[in-house]
Amino acid sequence: SRLSLWGGRFSGGPADALAELSRSTHFDWRLALHDIAGSRAHARVLHRAGLLDDAGLDAMLAALDELRADVESGAFVPAPEDEDVHTALERGLIERAGADVGGRLRAGRSRNDQIATLGRMYLRERARVVAGLVLDVVDALVEQARSHPGVAMPGRTHLQHAQPVLLAHHLLAHAWPLLRDVQRLQDWDARAALSPYGSGALAGSSLGLDPEAVAADLGFDGAVENSIDGTASRDAVAEFAFVTAMVAVDISRIAEEVILWATKEFGFITLDDAYSTGSSIMPQKKNPDVAELARGKTGRLIGNLTGLLATLKGLPLAYNRDLQEDKEPVFDSIDTLEVLLPAFSGMVATLVFDTERLESLAPQGFSLATDIAEWLVRQGVPFRVAHEVAGECVRVCESRGIELWDLSDDDLASISEHLTPGVREVLTVEGSLASRDGKGGTAPVRVAEQLEGAAAAAQEA
Ligand code: ARG
Repeated sequence: SRLSLWGGRFSGGPADALAELSRSTHFDWRLALHDIAGSRAHARVLHRAGLLDDAGLDAMLAALDELRADVESGAFVPAPEDEDVHTALERGLIERAGADVGGRLRAGRSRNDQIATLGRMYLRERARVVAGLVLDVVDALVEQARSHPGVAMPGRTHLQHAQPVLLAHHLLAHAWPLLRDVQRLQDWDARAALSPYGSGALAGSSLGLDPEAVAADLGFDGAVENSIDGTASRDAVAEFAFVTAMVAVDISRIAEEVILWATKEFGFITLDDAYSTGSSIMPQKKNPDVAELARGKTGRLIGNLTGLLATLKGLPLAYNRDLQEDKEPVFDSIDTLEVLLPAFSGMVATLVFDTERLESLAPQGFSLATDIAEWLVRQGVPFRVAHEVAGECVRVCESRGIELWDLSDDDLASISEHLTPGVREVLTVEGSLASRDGKGGTAPVRVAEQLEGAAAAAQEA
């Protein structure tokens, strides 16, 4: 009969509509191999506790091996009447080992501790893959930075020209948040590395099974401290959803700039043909679809996080079926990043920068005004006055339609007695960049240092 897991106290099977609602195999089947690994570990602790004899253990492990091979080959798949991955695999086990041996495996475990454990196993595995893909984006940014030493560009705040910066400095400003995201995945792993197996439905097991042994067998650092927490908490899943959403947000901020930079108005970059798309009607179009999809899909990852948090809010202890809803959001976040990140790193790696244009725009928009003010401060002028004087220079230039370096010696002198021709030494992009030489600043020597720092951090991660 259908739903054989709890036949005893029921007089009939569930309504079709309930079975339809309940079924989760279409999304939890991806946990099948982890479930089988959990079952092998569980069989071993049952044996150690004297609940399975030697022959029983051998038969059980042989049947689980066979089942694993059949899952891998696709010969065994969930049937419509299987509620979830655990139900399906129990059926598969009993088909292979017989009801006597197969029916012993369920002792001392519940689908509640099983699913909590499998979820962590799966997420820990995918976290490593996602981190590797994020590092590929970091590598692409670092390589672009490395291959454009000394190229200046307009640095912006409020999207307005602010101060000249090195292109490499700007690119690395996108690399560091991604490196922190990789660290977040690693920190997260230390918290996720505790196994809920042995928590049972919520209260633990009376059968003398060793949760630490199962944990070690499954590659965890140890077993959870509290069986209720082990089965009811999903903060490990929510935190994973946050980190993946943060990755997407960090990628999306790069994407937005790529989209802007590829416009005629900015003209900073050309996208490689392999990473751009055309238009079905406008023959001239070359569209930044990779970046737009990155920006767009970020909305999904944010939604996955907020949806999951909303599911968890208000759930009483311990396990509630609501918790089944933890899987689709994070699975979607993983799947989305796993298709997005390779395309994104390819796009970044193949960007071609119009360095001449970047350099010529760098000093425009009066972006050297701060350099005038700071030069005055070095001459002993209070910053309040210096700021005023530099502002006056901008005002004069703006009204005459000229740039700061076009001001004559007489213009300068008439704006302020402090403005001697010596100020011209900072009215160049090179002078401005070189002067910002504190740690983290845009001076070429500092940017070269942080480039090596970022490359080393990516290597070690
Ligand atoms: N499929 C469930 C989940 O994903 C696990 C089974 C627990 N179900 C139950 N009725 N106790 O959370």
